[in-house]
Amino acid sequence: MDFDTITIDGSRLLARLDELSKISAPGVGVTRLAYSSQDIEARKLLGTWMKDAGLTTITDPVTNLIGTRSGTGLCRKIIATGSHTDSVVNAGALDGAYGIVAAIEVAAALRERELTHDLKIVGFSNEEGARGSAGTFGSLAIAGQIEPGDLESVDVEGMSIAKRIQNAHGSPEHLKDAVWEDEILGGFIELHVEQGPILSVAEIQIGVVEAITAQGQFEVEITGTANHAGTTPMSARSDALVAAAHAILAIESLANPSSDPQATVRVATTGRITSEPGVRNVISNRAVVTADIRDTDVTKIKRATQKLASKLSAIAKETHTEITLRQVQLLDGTRCATEIVAAIDYASNLLGKATLRMVSGASHDSQSIAKIGPVGMIFVPSIDGLSHSPKESTLPEDLIAGAQVLLHTILRLDTSLGCRDNPQTKQKWIRGKT
Ligand code: GLV
Ligand code: MN
Ligand code: MN
Repeated sequence: MDFDTITIDGSRLLARLDELSKISAPGVGVTRLAYSSQDIEARKLLGTWMKDAGLTTITDPVTNLIGTRSGTGLCRKIIATGSHTDSVVNAGALDGAYGIVAAIEVAAALRERELTHDLKIVGFSNEEGARGSAGTFGSLAIAGQIEPGDLESVDVEGMSIAKRIQNAHGSPEHLKDAVWEDEILGGFIELHVEQGPILSVAEIQIGVVEAITAQGQFEVEITGTANHAGTTPMSARSDALVAAAHAILAIESLANPSSDPQATVRVATTGRITSEPGVRNVISNRAVVTADIRDTDVTKIKRATQKLASKLSAIAKETHTEITLRQVQLLDGTRCATEIVAAIDYASNLLGKATLRMVSGASHDSQSIAKIGPVGMIFVPSIDGLSHSPKESTLPEDLIAGAQVLLHTILRLDTSLGCRDNPQTKQKWIRGKT
């Protein structure tokens, strides 16, 4: 088969995306929370497709699903691709799913093709952190960035990540066995829908990601005093929910350049609010709001967080409440590797696809994997820029084009990667469960 004629099976890619999207909790769109029965079922199906593509599969201790095939070179590295299997609540069918299903199609297309380097297809677990605990957990574990204490962080239902992983048939006590040896990763490429409007407005099919945003996740906890809604004078209240309302506006203002001239590209969001006891005629004694702050680097997020802390202490004073600000997770901004960007450019050019250089405002597993090797990302357009929404969609021809670019990027990397000196270290791959 010639280099330039090899192709993925586009109709099967679309059919499989559709099939995978049906594995969802009830409700609008796709809900496949990390470690849920739906996520486990999705991985089972993906594992079957991986095996059909000629891959040997394992599930590692933190429940990442990994399919591998060996290359033929004497001094080979790993070329890896994939994305996450979990989703937010009421998501679309593509965020994460596209990158892993397309990766399997690429492996299937390459089944009869000799590759110099080893190929790994990864379905990362818990990228979204949608249960309220830290996200990109599976990829951080691969990159050796998880400390045993992180396993104890609890979600909104009060359950620790360790317990969730156990329930999903993982073995958190073997966390260290999920770590990849950094010197053997030749490159990781993640294919993803853009999740924003830029490509669709520009009518360009392929985004070549140069950098990924830094992200800070926080919880603001407010303690007030429960009291009667009819008899407590307005001046005598310690109302946690009123303080939460002020806190939400303070979070939003962090991204307002007129209140912070540094906030030129910063975004700040409150996605969740809870209040106790949650009764119409009782003043709230406890409220929690979340803050998601993104900027080009963590230093800027840390500065914004200091501002938030001082705004919150003013709010606490004004509302006679107590407020604490807790960091859930801080992810570094990431630059994609020039050699991977070049390989994506090469593949797009070969296929006659126009490209646009981009910065990703969404976080991705690629950020974690960048800690142990070169990474790059390929984006395809999201219609109307919608994502984390049941309305998320991408034109079928764009989905197929992205997968084709991924295939040729991998072929390009397979020829352009240098050889390793010590093939023995390859044996130190993941020691996970089959
Ligand atoms: C992941 O989807 C994120 O950017 O929050
Ligand atoms: Mn997402
Ligand atoms: Mn995603």
